[in-house]
Order: sequence, then C-alpha cells, then structure tokens
Amino acid sequence: MNRIISGIKPSGELNIGGYGGALHQFLKLQDDCECYFFVPDLHAVTVPQDPRLLLRRSKEIAAYYVAAGVDPKKAAIFMQSQVPAHAELSWLLETQAHFGELGRMTQFKDKSHGKDAVSSALFTYPVLMAADILLYRATHVPVGDDQKQHLELTRDLAERFNNRFAPVFAVPEPVIPEIGSRIMGLDDPSKKMSKSNPNPNGCVLLQDDPDLINRKFAKAVTDSEGEVRYDWERKPEISNLIEIYAVFAGAGVPEIERRFAGVGYGAFKRDIAEAVIAKLAPIQRRFADIVDSEELLAVLRDGAERAAATADATLRKAKQAMGLLTFG
Ligand code: TYM
Repeated sequence: MNRIISGIKPSGELNIGGYGGALHQFLKLQDDCECYFFVPDLHAVTVPQDPRLLLRRSKEIAAYYVAAGVDPKKAAIFMQSQVPAHAELSWLLETQAHFGELGRMTQFKDKSHGKDAVSSALFTYPVLMAADILLYRATHVPVGDDQKQHLELTRDLAERFNNRFAPVFAVPEPVIPEIGSRIMGLDDPSKKMSKSNPNPNGCVLLQDDPDLINRKFAKAVTDSEGEVRYDWERKPEISNLIEIYAVFAGAGVPEIERRFAGVGYGAFKRDIAEAVIAKLAPIQRRFADIVDSEELLAVLRDGAERAAATADATLRKAKQAMGLLTFG
C-alpha cells in the first residue's frame, strides 16, 4: 500500500493555493493509502513567530484538515513538534547534506534575500522536510509545484544515506497535480498566491466570507480579449482562473472552455466565486465547530501516537545503521 505524508505550514492563514496544491489532494488519497497529514510547526519557527499566534494557526491548520474532510480514523493528523523523531532524524540527515546543495535551494534564497539576521534553521529547513518524509518511509508526497526542489533533495538524501549505510529509507515520489499545483495571485499571475502578498485582493483565504470572495474575484486581473481559453503563455490570468475553477467546481479544462465560450469574463468570475463559496461554506462551518474543541486535541493526541510508532521504528533503524547505540 502506498504511504503518503504531507503538511501545510502554520505560518499564515490558509489560502486557496494551499487548498489546491495540498489539501484537495489529501482528500483523494486517504481512501486508498496509509496517510500521515501533519502541521509542520517546527518549520514555521525557522522565521520569527508570535508564539500565541503560532499555536492558534497550528490548531487552525489541523482543524482545516478535519473540516475539509480528512478522516482522522483513516489518516494520522498530528503536530510535527509532538513527534520528537522529526528533529532527531533531521540532525542525522544534516550530517549527509552538503552546504552547497542547501545554498542552492531557491526558497532559501528567496526567504533570506536582503535579510541580515537569517536563522541557521532556515538554511537547514529542507533537511527537516526530508526527515518528515523519510521517517514514514513515504512512497508519495502530495505537494504543490513550489516544493519540487525540496522533494528532489529528499530523494538525494535518501539515496545517499541508503548507499552509505544501509537501505533504511524509501525513495519518495512527489505527487504534483497537473491542475491546481500552481495557483497564482489574482492580482499578478507571475507570483504564487500567498498570504505574504501585500495586496490582500490577490489572495483568497479559506476563512473569507462570500462577499469578500466575490469582491476578490471581481477585481482579479484579466487580459482584454474576453475569451476563456487555457493558455499559460499568452493568457496567464485566465489560465489561473480556469485552474481555480477546475479545482473548486471539479470540472476539466476543455469542459470549462466549452461552458464559458462567448460568455465574457464578468460572468466567468461570478461563477468561479460561486464555486469557491459553495465548496468553502461547509468547510467553514465544520471548522468553526472544531477549532477550539477537545475533539481536535484528541485527534492530535491520537495522531501523534500513531505517527510516533512509525517514525520511531525508522529512526531506530537509521541510528543502528550509523553506528549509534539503540536498545531493543
Ligand atoms: P507550505 O506550507 O508553503 O504550503 C503547503 C502546501 O501547499 C502548496 N501550496 C500551493 N499549491 C498551489 N498553489 C499555491 N499558491 C500554493 N501555495 C502553497 C505547497 O506546495 C505545499 O504542498 N515545506 C512545506 C511544508 C512541509 C512539507 C513537509 C510538505 C514541511 N515538511 C513534508 C510535504 C512533506 C511548505 O512550506 O509548504
């Protein structure tokens, strides 16, 4: 059976980009695979965080997993910091990672650019991510396109370790969907949709109310051709909107092009907003019920126990392979 691991960092409110690239995929995989979905809170602290806000956001991400339909009976849902093996394996893997290859990570370059006080944890961030994945001997990792380079490093580290010591790790495959893995800003299709975008209209949050969602899509930039056609080269704005509609309405690209032929952008944008609102409404209701509940804490406690059972077994094998003492 395929093993899946993935997570969404609690460093800002969840937006529909994270839904398209990650959460939406989690739901498809949980029925047929052994799944581990976690909240990478140790990744979030690689940049400064307000401690109270971090805890709140971490619970919110876990609540969104459940609210969107991840079933805690099928998938283990947990906080990364609750399973100590992540930090421990990360240290072991750091001994195998090269300074140069970490320096080539584009996310590190982007996040450290122009800053003088960059934490060393931001630099070793991708090694912790490799540990997250390798601990579960995951075969597949559903992620958005921006995580591709981190997955390549994970595969390199797994192979390097296995060749040098013993075949402890599975070499994982990224699962990057054709549609929805690169949802771009509504204000600028050359930039990934992200909460850090200074223009709030560029990013639709999972918590946005219907009015705000309508307004954000109404303001989305377009070309002036008036033709709903999927063509990233020539029509990036409309292609981005088509992808969002495809994720939220569950329709294929050719079908969308047919459906909106000759309709004009105004009506298209209203229909996208409607599809997003319809999908988010039940998620928002369930989210409000559970985010502050004991039920969520119970899910996280149980998830951490299940995750630790798998993770600890792999960590023990890695330590043994490296010549570190283990009992049992
Ligand atoms: P993060 O928290 O930045 O994003 C979470 C997931 O959402 C995807 N994503 C997007 N997909 C499409 N369009 C967008 N605009 C968009 N924005 C985000 C990301 O590709 C990601 O899949 N390092 C990871 C978290 C992580 C992780 C892991 C993931 C830590 N350890 C182990 C998988 C396995 C990150 O920062 O993702």
